[in-house]
Amino acid sequence: MTSRKPMVDIFSQVIEQQRELGLGELRLDRNAVTTLLPAEPSRKPSRDSLAPTKALTDFCEQINNCTKCRLHEGRNKFVFGVGYPAADVMFVGEGPGHDEDMKGEPFVGRAGQLLDKILAAIKFDRKQIYIANIVKCRPPNNRDPQPDEMSECLPYLKKQIEIINPRFICCLGRVAAQALLGVTTPLGKMRGRFMDFEGRKLMVTYHPAALLRFPQYKRDTWEDVQMLRKEYDEWLAL
Ligand code: URA
Ligand code: URA
Repeated sequence: MTSRKPMVDIFSQVIEQQRELGLGELRLDRNAVTTLLPAEPSRKPSRDSLAPTKALTDFCEQINNCTKCRLHEGRNKFVFGVGYPAADVMFVGEGPGHDEDMKGEPFVGRAGQLLDKILAAIKFDRKQIYIANIVKCRPPNNRDPQPDEMSECLPYLKKQIEIINPRFICCLGRVAAQALLGVTTPLGKMRGRFMDFEGRKLMVTYHPAALLRFPQYKRDTWEDVQMLRKEYDEWLAL
């Protein structure tokens, strides 16, 4: 990748983004700098978004009155998902919280604002990727979704993945990763590398809500998402 942008601007941008993410100490690594070079015209132009847009809209209409599990009882809004219907990269969270339930959109509360910063640090934004959750309705008092609730809802997410057909999936937090992969592996053993998920590249990092409580994990998260961006750029260049 080449750029005429002065190095000093690029470094300033890296520093500013690390500050935004709330990273205490400065780190300038090679990946961070290369991924912050001006974005290439983003995705492979091969796939048209019309068919997946219609398929997603139809699917949302089909399922948004779901009453399969008890979570529908407290639901204000069904939180289907948001983003580009033919996204190459999909982020998967756990389930809606209060703000998401009010708005009907994933990651719009405090954790969502941090997610936006994480995305910005790797030059992604909501319009270019897709974001969805394991469960589409808010668990009461923000408790973890229960196994039966997740297993009722998981086919919905799997169908979304099939329609969107992303090359990359990034699971946010242990609960999302374990549910999607069907494993009980601890988060620390899953993050930092790519795994296969039905022919797609899947990685796991910390949940932004966990980062709000434990800022010491921001460093690892920063490295995880840089890894994602690097792999994505390499795939784009193929
Ligand atoms: N946490 C999640 O896992 N998902 C959301 O949509 C919001 C917060
Ligand atoms: N990762 C998570 O997803 N949650 C935690 O509480 C800690 C690490």
